[in-house]
Amino acid sequence: MLKAGFTGTMPKNAGVIAVFAGKKGALSKNAKDMDKKTGGALSRAVKASTHFEGKLKQSLVVSGAGGGVDHIIVLGTAGGKKLSATDLESLGATLVKALKDLKQKGAAVLVDLPDGAENAAETAARFAFGAALHNYSFDLYRTKKKDERPKTVEKLDLVLGEAAAAKKLYAPMEKIAAGVFFTRDLVSEPPNVLYPESFVDRVKKELTPLGVKIQVLTEKQMEKMGMGAIIGVGKGSVRPPRMVVMQYDGLPKNAPAAAKKPVAFVGKGITFDTGGISLKPGPGMDEMKWDMGGAGTVSGLMKALAGRKAKINAIGILALAENMPDGNATRPGDVLTSLSGQTIEVLNTDAEGRLVLADAMWYVQDKFKPKVMIDLATLTGAIIIALGHEYAGIFSNDDDLPKHLMTAGEDVSEKTWHMPMCTAWDKAIDSDIADMKNIGGRDAGSATAAAFLKRFVKDGTVWAHLDIAGVAWSKKDRPTVPKGGTGFGVRLLDHLVAAHYEAK
Ligand code: BES
Ligand code: MN
Ligand code: ZN
Repeated sequence: MLKAGFTGTMPKNAGVIAVFAGKKGALSKNAKDMDKKTGGALSRAVKASTHFEGKLKQSLVVSGAGGGVDHIIVLGTAGGKKLSATDLESLGATLVKALKDLKQKGAAVLVDLPDGAENAAETAARFAFGAALHNYSFDLYRTKKKDERPKTVEKLDLVLGEAAAAKKLYAPMEKIAAGVFFTRDLVSEPPNVLYPESFVDRVKKELTPLGVKIQVLTEKQMEKMGMGAIIGVGKGSVRPPRMVVMQYDGLPKNAPAAAKKPVAFVGKGITFDTGGISLKPGPGMDEMKWDMGGAGTVSGLMKALAGRKAKINAIGILALAENMPDGNATRPGDVLTSLSGQTIEVLNTDAEGRLVLADAMWYVQDKFKPKVMIDLATLTGAIIIALGHEYAGIFSNDDDLPKHLMTAGEDVSEKTWHMPMCTAWDKAIDSDIADMKNIGGRDAGSATAAAFLKRFVKDGTVWAHLDIAGVAWSKKDRPTVPKGGTGFGVRLLDHLVAAHYEAK
């Protein structure tokens, strides 16, 4: 994790300094001071540059100009409008990228936007947050460095008058970033390393020190309790399934009962999805290592909430299993009895996510009576056809919750879109021999999956399902989201909690 220091005075011996420039390269006040110290080197470089126009995401490196520093990095800030939180984050990300190219481990940042930031403390904190989120790479399994450049930057010193205020604003952001990184790590781990039991170990190791209580149900226990759906999914694997319940109590014991009712987050955790007996085609099957993305997000979210000591009671529940074909695997045609008592005819063993979620959702409602339940799952390929890789799909039994999710998503650049639910799609999953079947046919695949889940939502529970199949993994680099596991949902749900469920 990038270290961000906030200070009122320029650190001594800073080898690299970052300053800001606005429209057409107009230097900020601090940048002008640096320009003087270097005998006009900055203004000359800006003028001579053929690419730098002071636009957002542009940077100009001036090396060897003197003034006691090795490199001065000029960052463009002009977006044509007031900079949003996302813009400020991408500004921090741009600096980290430039530092990596320069093989530098840190810089001092003279925070003063040329266009006049309204709030310097907010600007500095957001800048540092964006820098931290960009500064991530998963290279646990590289034994040879491809090139010599440092993969990550170590420290930024942000120099501004309101240093104390910026530091305070940044403190929770750093915890959120740590949650995002935990999710990214989990999602990127290979499936021979991350399977239900090792997932449990990772979660315990990360969350127990933060005061999160963790309860684990073994296969035997789940079987005894009647969780036939998750058991059915795990049966074809030599790695037994697990259910993990994480309990974070951020409210005092004497808080009012209504406030203490928890918000529950449920994650699909298929550590590898071969499709089971309804085997997936070979090409791209490796991607199904990230079919535990929902569980990864719930784990990272719990880390963020507990890390920043959010004033909320939250439950995170993970339905962990590996979907494999073997002689003991569930067959197409089998009927499973879920924890709810409802029976499910399995017509396609590749529609396994909804099965593990069915038992986890029922269990968490039974045991904790949450006021709100939000599940996250890489549930359907169909949501990628509908929304691509930009938006997660929301399905809900409530009118307000989807609105709140969409707004929160806009705020943190994790976009979501409210999809419809209707009784026709519920009818589509009626079975001839059991209470329901686990597939609805070719049409509206994400919606029939949601209709299935809805049958496991109790009356009175406000519920939303986020289908994150298109957004849990990225094949392209974006400023604050490098390619690989994205950590999608941690920031979104943390923000939702802060805006709507946290005690003030
Ligand atoms: N994990 C997949 C969904 C998925 C597909 C996630 C592609 C990410 C990328 C899920 O378990 C699945 O296989 N769903 C099937 C459902 C179908 C059998 C009704 C699908 O989407 O094809
Ligand atoms: Mn599947
Ligand atoms: Zn799956």
